[in-house]
Amino acid sequence: MIKKIRLKNWQTHIDSSFEFPKGINALLGVMGSGKSSVLDAISFAFFGTFPAAQQRRIKLENVITDIFTRHDNAEVTLEFEKEDKIYEIKRKLDRKKTSTSELRCDGLLVESPASQRVTERIEKIIGIDYSTFAQVVYCEQNRLDQFLQIPRGQRMKKIDELLKIDKFETARANIVTLKNRISKSAKELETHTASLRALIDSKDIDTQKKEIEKIELEIKAFNRRLTDIKKIRDTLQKETEILQKKKNIYDEQKNREIKIMTRIEQITDELKNYTNVDDVQSYTPEFIDTQTERLNSVLKKQKSLEKEIAILEEKINTDTNNLNSGNTKLKILESRRPEIEKLKDTETKIEELKTAIEKLLKEEAGINSKIDDTTKSITALEKSDANCPTCDTPLNTEQKTDVIKEKRDQMNTFENSLVIINKEIKTEREKMTESEKKKRELLQYINLEKDILNTSETIKQIDSQLKTQKNKLEDSKKIFSSDKIKKIEQEIRRFETTKTILRHIHEKRHLEEEKKQIKINIDELKFKPEELEKKLTEFIAHDKLYSTDIVKLRSLQDMYKEKAKNLSVLKDQAKLVKTNEKQIEMMKDRLPELERFKIVLETTQIMLREQFIESINNIMEDLWFSVYPYKDYTGIQISVDEGDYILQLRNMDDTWMNVEGTVSGGERMTAVLVLRIAMSTVLAPGMKMLLLDEPTHNLDRKAVEELAETLRTKVSDIVDQVFLITHDEAMETAVTGKLYRLNRGENKEDVTEVIEI
Ligand SMILES: Nc1ncnc2c1ncn2[C@@H]1O[C@H](COP(=O)(O)OP(=O)(O)O)[C@@H](O)[C@H]1O
Ligand SMILES: [Mg+2]
Repeated sequence: MIKKIRLKNWQTHIDSSFEFPKGINALLGVMGSGKSSVLDAISFAFFGTFPAAQQRRIKLENVITDIFTRHDNAEVTLEFEKEDKIYEIKRKLDRKKTSTSELRCDGLLVESPASQRVTERIEKIIGIDYSTFAQVVYCEQNRLDQFLQIPRGQRMKKIDELLKIDKFETARANIVTLKNRISKSAKELETHTASLRALIDSKDIDTQKKEIEKIELEIKAFNRRLTDIKKIRDTLQKETEILQKKKNIYDEQKNREIKIMTRIEQITDELKNYTNVDDVQSYTPEFIDTQTERLNSVLKKQKSLEKEIAILEEKINTDTNNLNSGNTKLKILESRRPEIEKLKDTETKIEELKTAIEKLLKEEAGINSKIDDTTKSITALEKSDANCPTCDTPLNTEQKTDVIKEKRDQMNTFENSLVIINKEIKTEREKMTESEKKKRELLQYINLEKDILNTSETIKQIDSQLKTQKNKLEDSKKIFSSDKIKKIEQEIRRFETTKTILRHIHEKRHLEEEKKQIKINIDELKFKPEELEKKLTEFIAHDKLYSTDIVKLRSLQDMYKEKAKNLSVLKDQAKLVKTNEKQIEMMKDRLPELERFKIVLETTQIMLREQFIESINNIMEDLWFSVYPYKDYTGIQISVDEGDYILQLRNMDDTWMNVEGTVSGGERMTAVLVLRIAMSTVLAPGMKMLLLDEPTHNLDRKAVEELAETLRTKVSDIVDQVFLITHDEAMETAVTGKLYRLNRGENKEDVTEVIEI
């Protein structure tokens, strides 16, 4: 039950407050005075919207008052009572910000600020949602006959939606689809399983199992055999290897023996060449070596002396040759000795010639510069405005010619002297070359003389050395005569032979010892080649047997694997057949269940519809007599025709007439009003409230009076609260609660004024 509502900046209401008790409340006023605004505000308070806004006939934010100034926000506060609790809803509508809402219960905040969540809370508390409210509680102006405004054929669907049983339809359709799908899948699975079963039956699993077991046994037997053969083969291999190693040692020893024997034979042959083999056996190699060394040193000394002498003689020879040729040259030069005495004079003359040439060159340079100057002054004079070179006064042509002539004469004299000087220089230079040549020859001569002196000095020295060496050689020859030397040489050769013999004897002894050892080794080895041969043949035979058996075993194993795989596939398929069969059975079981469910849904839906119609009809029947003031129609009902609902009135002869088309405007209005009240009672029992905007439209005076009476006496028994909007003063009699008059001037700037009557 709504107790209070306050509207701030809500359309024409700047700040209007209303209090409503139980019963019929009414708002009176001329058109545009702000009556409907109050009902919209009630809807907005509960659900955050109202029909005109919901259907987008107006924009929600346009309800914010736009008188004098454009207000920023509107606010609606509503207080209602439900099950002894007082709830307060406050909603703020803002032009710029998001709207906010809050819900309080007995003063305590329940939900805020999200409008949507507040609405959800309220819907739970009052037990209906906006769509039900808009269709059964709130009757907008000119929409009292909303039921009849729904086109035929769509009413049942609409009512189903209101009853929330439209979902049954969807559920049923889904069940049919599901059923079809399941039976299709079951059929497909059946076909698939049948072909699979046929496949499995064609291959005998038991026979295959037996075959596999047989192969398994064969493999086991084969494995045992192979292990035995391998053992033997491995032993043979080891034995063969040992014998092979022995053979290698044996061969090595034998080879060595042959080599030793050959060598001994060689040495024996060699020793046959020597006669004194037995004598030398008493010598030691060390003794022989010292003796040989001593003899060799004597020979060496002798030889080095001879070599030195030879070198010295060679040197004397070359030097003597040089001396001889020098002496010859000296004799030729001897004739020029007087000249040599005059070497000093030549040098003095060269110096003099140098000075003379320098003097001449200076003179030449002087003359050359004079020639240059004269040439320049001639060139200057030849110009038109020439002055006198001496007094610097301008010259006339005659004077000029004279002076140029004079200068040219001077030039000639200079050039002549230059020729003479050049000749002189040439002569002096020739003399100079001559003298220098002479000087060089004389110096050469002096050097040669010096060389010769040196050479003869060297020869003298070498000569004396040679003499000393020759004396030494003589002395040595006195001690080591050539006979003696020969003997020494013979002795040395003998020692060498002895040494060779000794070496051979030693080697032979050594080899013979080794030969003995080899014989012992071979005996110890106890190797017989034929034994190795036998073992090897045996091993090869076993090895071959082993290899072929392994190949056979592999192929058996492969066969086993292949067969086992096939069998496992077959087993899997058999298992699949079983699961499929179960699945098919389960699916088939589901089908009747689903069918039953479908029928239940259908029946339930029909039952609910019937119950709804029955309740509506009961209430309408009750109301009809009080609301309808005439005798023409005795009853009202909703019935089903061609699968949809129609509203009917019963006439005097008990036949049902359709409200549409048949009855008068007033009767039609009464009928839909009755239907409205019945619907709100059945569909919104939690609200027990009706909002009626101008319900008297189309009704005549009598009918209005009856309606007022009905509302007052009958409706207030069924519904807790009615909010009635009317411009009809006759309706005032219906009011059992509060009556408000809303005043507003005709100007656009006028606001609503609320007066409680
Ligand atoms: N935001 C607004 N600001 C000012 N006036 C408004 C606003 N919205 C609607 N109105 C005015 O409110 C009046 C409608 O009020 P309404 O409650 O429908 O009147 P009635 O009493 O006929 O039911 C109109 O005159 C309309 O111009
Ligand atoms: Mg109105």
